[in-house]
Amino acid sequence: MAFNISDLNAWAERNANLHPRDILAFALEHFSPRLGVSFSGAEDVVLVDMAVKLGGKFQVFSLDTGRLHPETYQFLEKVREHYGITIDIFFPRSEAVEEFVRAKGMYSFYRDGHKECCSLRKVEPLRRALSKLDAWVTGQRRDQSPSTRAQVAVAEIDAAFSNGRQLVKFNPLANWTSRQVWNYIREYDVPYNPLHERGFISIGCEPCTRPVLPGQHEREGRWWWEDATKKECGLHAGNLVETVAVAAS
Ligand code: ADX
Ligand code: SF4
Repeated sequence: MAFNISDLNAWAERNANLHPRDILAFALEHFSPRLGVSFSGAEDVVLVDMAVKLGGKFQVFSLDTGRLHPETYQFLEKVREHYGITIDIFFPRSEAVEEFVRAKGMYSFYRDGHKECCSLRKVEPLRRALSKLDAWVTGQRRDQSPSTRAQVAVAEIDAAFSNGRQLVKFNPLANWTSRQVWNYIREYDVPYNPLHERGFISIGCEPCTRPVLPGQHEREGRWWWEDATKKECGLHAGNLVETVAVAAS
């Protein structure tokens, strides 16, 4: 059945509590094969598992910032082999990173914030990855960050990366909690990143991720030296725009 993108927001509102599998099925039905699952090497593996089981053509891509944990690289490989899928790995532009670390060193984000490094190592490669797609799928959940993700919809138009066309962003796990994700992982015996066994909940780049203590929110393990309202790296820039708009109103 044909789908008009101008109906997307209404569809997302109507289906705000749909099971992630059914949201993925809808995404596949309407955007295959120009649909890409953005896989970070963390618990968003459940999306890969669901999409593979649904069948149909879709892509899986990861952004290799050059600063991931060894365990995450090993896990990406494990997922590739386990599901027999191709994972498109996007690297940052080498000249830009060379110039950046030559000028500022390897850990400038601890001094002047993560934005510049994330923009070179994550956002620019994501822009290239998305240029070949009509829709992408992320593992964002509302419970991941009360400061920036509380409003995340199950589907939205991605204005930040649209580049003159209409790009759709699906967040099938938006209405799931961490507990539901982990129940799924256990129930279906889904492989997971071994860092989760060592206190890591949210996993990003090695220098910007640390385990959290009992009772701490998972986002406290990311960019812990920065203000909670700035903890988005640019992949999900729309979340910050919304936060600023809500804060200003
Ligand atoms: S981040 O923006 O703060 O780094 P987070 O780690 O919470 O994001 O992950 C949310 C979703 O963003 C992931 O489920 C995934 O879809 C996407 N994502 C984050 N990092 C990457 C990455 N390195 N490669 C591919 N997708 C990523
Ligand atoms: Fe750089 Fe840290 Fe951002 Fe990774 S998370 S791209 S290391 S600032």
